[in-house]
Amino acid sequence: MEYIIEMDKITKEFPGIKANDQVDLKLKKGEIHALLGENGAGKSTLMSVLFGLYKPDEGTIKVRGKLVSISNPNDANKLGIGMVHQHFKLVHNFTVAENIILGHEDTTKGFLRYENAVSKIQNLSKQYKLKVDPSAIIENISVGQQQRVEILKMLYRDAEILIFDEPTASLTPQEIEELMKILRSLAEEGKSIILITHKLTEIQQVADRCTILRKGKYIDTVDVAQTSNEELAEKMVGRKVVFDIEKAPAQPGETILKVENLWVRSIHSNTDRVQGVSLDVKRGEILCVAGIEGNGQSELIHGLVGLTPLSKGKILIHGEDITHATTRERNLSGISHIPEDRQRHGLVLDFSLEYNLILNSYFEKAYQRRGFLAFNSIREHAQDLIQQYDIRSSHGPLSLARSMSGGNQQKAILGREIDHGSDLLIAVQPTRGLDVGAIEFIHKQIIAERDRGKAVLLVSLELDEVMGLSDRIIVMYGGELVGEFDPQTVSENELGLYMSGARRRGVA
Ligand SMILES: Nc1ncnc2c1ncn2[C@@H]1O[C@H](COP(=O)(O)OP(=O)(O)O)[C@@H](O)[C@H]1O
Ligand SMILES: [Mg+2]
Repeated sequence: MEYIIEMDKITKEFPGIKANDQVDLKLKKGEIHALLGENGAGKSTLMSVLFGLYKPDEGTIKVRGKLVSISNPNDANKLGIGMVHQHFKLVHNFTVAENIILGHEDTTKGFLRYENAVSKIQNLSKQYKLKVDPSAIIENISVGQQQRVEILKMLYRDAEILIFDEPTASLTPQEIEELMKILRSLAEEGKSIILITHKLTEIQQVADRCTILRKGKYIDTVDVAQTSNEELAEKMVGRKVVFDIEKAPAQPGETILKVENLWVRSIHSNTDRVQGVSLDVKRGEILCVAGIEGNGQSELIHGLVGLTPLSKGKILIHGEDITHATTRERNLSGISHIPEDRQRHGLVLDFSLEYNLILNSYFEKAYQRRGFLAFNSIREHAQDLIQQYDIRSSHGPLSLARSMSGGNQQKAILGREIDHGSDLLIAVQPTRGLDVGAIEFIHKQIIAERDRGKAVLLVSLELDEVMGLSDRIIVMYGGELVGEFDPQTVSENELGLYMSGARRRGVA
């Protein structure tokens, strides 16, 4: 029998969308099979069907050659199918061992055989080189270690078919490297693996075969060794893609933004999430703040744009002190901001696109006529930006922001903020969750801003983006700047050491 899993013509419809439309997936025993597709392509849906979380509208599933019906995760477990979800499902104040055993307790006459369980965990962890301390509390271990706990949890239940949903999203380069080794050793021990990802380098690194989905449809299944990144990308997005970010060397001019010893308090607790950060951004350069999520990047930007009050420090734009200015004053004094949370801070979702495009300028003369909004100018302005920034929607200027796709919402914010003409553009994760086409477009616009002589402060969690876009890189860890680098000379590996706190050096 060649296949351990055969999903055949699976269709799953949600109100208004066919998330899976006649999709096939055939998994061989002992292979690593990548499931590739852009955001929204239907990857998680297909795996939820296999794991018994959704019932398919059409199609059949065979496991080890036998037709099965999987109506809940328990059925899946019994068939030897395990899944590590994108967001881990661990109990934070339990130990590693307790989490692994949870729901699968080994009892003798009602008594928990805890020692048996722990020794089984230790054996598994040795066999698969999954280093963890069974007695450690989950909230005290790193994300990479938590992931190992999730893997051990599957192995503890004797799973043979392992599904990983975007497992590298929140890992450092070192942890990713480690995970790739673990995946390989699992496959060598005979486990069959489905790896969901949209990262081509990971596929080239570990996968044997790859199935590509696009907009809910099955596109192809290929042998990875015989397929180039370009071919994979083209199948994924349906057209040719330019990978390399092309840009000329930076020509930095005078300092636009200067930040001195900034401290920003968390809104959730009484601690400072930004601790003594100093930096400057010059005209004509892109300065990138790299780091793993949750190391104070968001709070730094909130402090800069006036969303959170500072505990200490000074912010200067063009040498002028704006430390105590309001958000609108900062906006007028020359800060444009593409926020991290585009739906909460970037748009008014129940406003039309044309009103969203003047959110930071409706009070200006151009849009006011005797105390009323000047509708014609607003419409013309919207039409200009829609064309210039390729903002696609169902009803043009009148489309509700809420009805637009993430990529087009982001292009609208980008267009509005660039059009505003500020000397400083702050862009926080500007391409998070977008498809390859929109990412390419947004990168080009950010570089064009730099080349028009604007200062750009970029916050990104994606190392490819950091390396490709930035002219200078600073790394944040635990609320502090721990290093400054030249993207031409630093390696991703070295950045990773700073991002994970394993290394630090003083920053001038
Ligand atoms: N529970 C749900 N209800 C409604 N729509 C959903 C649901 N889950 C996913 N979708 C939609 O189905 C499509 C495929 O989603 P998903 O399988 O999560 O894609 P991927 O994992 O490839 O990013 C998307 O358009 C998504 O918005
Ligand atoms: Mg998904």
